Amino acid sequence: MRQNLVAGNWKMNLDYQAGLALVSEITNMVADEATGPQAPQVVICPPFPFLAGVGKLLPAGGRFHLGAQNCHQQESGPYTGEVSARMLQSVGCEYVILGHSERRQYFREDDALLSQKVKAALAAGLQPIFCVGESLDTREADETFDFIGGQLENGLFHLSNEEFDRVVIAYEPIWAIGTGRTATSQQAQDVHAFIRERLARAYDAQAALNTTILYGGSANAQNARELFAQPDVDGGLIGGASLKSRDFTEIIKSFS
Ligand code: 13P
Repeated sequence: MRQNLVAGNWKMNLDYQAGLALVSEITNMVADEATGPQAPQVVICPPFPFLAGVGKLLPAGGRFHLGAQNCHQQESGPYTGEVSARMLQSVGCEYVILGHSERRQYFREDDALLSQKVKAALAAGLQPIFCVGESLDTREADETFDFIGGQLENGLFHLSNEEFDRVVIAYEPIWAIGTGRTATSQQAQDVHAFIRERLARAYDAQAALNTTILYGGSANAQNARELFAQPDVDGGLIGGASLKSRDFTEIIKSFS
């Protein structure tokens, strides 16, 4: 079901003690805020070794949820160093980020592999946060919509309606990630509206309306409000600013 949502992707940052301190600060600061009808769900996505410990600090049954940054496509087996979706679920994860551009670029994860990972995550009861987004070259060549349409089709459209219901999409233009160069709220809105239109064609209008679509890429406490005010932007997938409790809390409060 579509909902306002802010997810913090810590990437490969902090150590365990710093991670626990950060999450305690965030939960304390957010608990002090009034919870209105627009108040978002919050997903914290720390590195694997912090998951269980961070999960213990998230108030149960509230708006905080635990997410991972990746999972393997197989259920179990001889895959040294890998982590399955079921393992994540067993330590309290409800979400898993899949298809992040850093995984696509540095770990050669392609659409075919990601389509399997999405299936594995759903089978284990996790909600995938599936990332799509174009490079600067693709944008400048005016191929953004075709490119993102392809990522959606190849990564997600093998799912049944019931499966697709549990997918969150994140639009993260690669040129905006970690660069301080945010997409304008209009650029974000245009792509989000395009994504929703593609979902309506692949599934149906209701499925498209029910899908949560996040923006990611240099989102911060200053620009979040304007981004989140766009009709098709339901929240954010936040990198750098999720590592600072005050900034992340400000972003969580940026829904009106
Ligand atoms: P930044 O917010 O640091 O640009 O990172 C965005 C991102 O990649 C979140 O997944």
